[in-house]
Amino acid sequence: MKITVIGAGNVGATATQRILEKHLAKEVVLLDVVEGIPQGKALDMFESAPVELFDTNVVGTNDYADTAGSDIILITAGRPRKPGMSRDDLLAMNADIVKTVTESAVSKSPNAFIVVVSNPLDVMTYVSYLKSGFPKERVIGMAGVLDTARFRSFIAMELNVSVRDVNAFVLGGHGDSMVPVVKYTNVAGIPLSELISQERIDAIVDRTRKGGAEIVNYLKTGSAYYAPSSAAVEMIEAIVKDRKRILPCSVCVDGQYGLNDVFVGVPAKLGANGIEEILEINLDEKDLKSLQASAHDVKEQCDKVNSMI
Ligand code: LAC
Repeated sequence: MKITVIGAGNVGATATQRILEKHLAKEVVLLDVVEGIPQGKALDMFESAPVELFDTNVVGTNDYADTAGSDIILITAGRPRKPGMSRDDLLAMNADIVKTVTESAVSKSPNAFIVVVSNPLDVMTYVSYLKSGFPKERVIGMAGVLDTARFRSFIAMELNVSVRDVNAFVLGGHGDSMVPVVKYTNVAGIPLSELISQERIDAIVDRTRKGGAEIVNYLKTGSAYYAPSSAAVEMIEAIVKDRKRILPCSVCVDGQYGLNDVFVGVPAKLGANGIEEILEINLDEKDLKSLQASAHDVKEQCDKVNSMI
């Protein structure tokens, strides 16, 4: 297993470290356009191997030749949000970056799976899909796992229970229109509505929607990376270990939920063949409408981006 991580910023570097410490690959390549940064970070990580006890080789590079034959390409390249910026403000800047890195990476690794983390997430996954020429099962956006992790964290905080017992998922686009699905959220099987008042549930849903901005407002100079890298690596692990995990992923829907040809977060089975199945679950009318509205927003952005790339 060879994994390439594109972008040696906080998300890319932290994801690389997690991949190494979870023993998910024989070789990891960390690539960035900035000279010295991927080399320095990769060497620093390799020097942790004798303590952390991983046998993976980790290489930092500016040259796509070093990424050849990768099984998985994680795209984290792009500008992060600054305070006051929406994910969509990043559209033009990051579309160009994701287009270039996708074309360069797939020319060296034509059989890889691509996991996209760059924002605005669903649109960048579409850009990568378009420019890779890969089948839909092999281009997957990371958003729902992160948004769901935030939702689960906030519920666990509210109830003072273990995060392990909180089951939930968040669908839709990775933006303010995301859809935390309260109907299927439970704590050790107990429906959320039995445990928390509607008013508090609404507040937690709202905090989840704004979860990324909450971190940006604290950090001031960048966006979240610990939870985003954990989420991306959970998806990579599902593919590497053929786990058949059911995870909310940004995938190109094909008639499910009344939606066609748009990347949006829906529950999907993730295994050795990438997206092995898209699950169409029975949503409340309100959640279904929200999911469709969210997909509509993504589609509008994709139409905009079509003229830019
Ligand atoms: C967030 C950014 C990474 O949600 O989109 O933190």
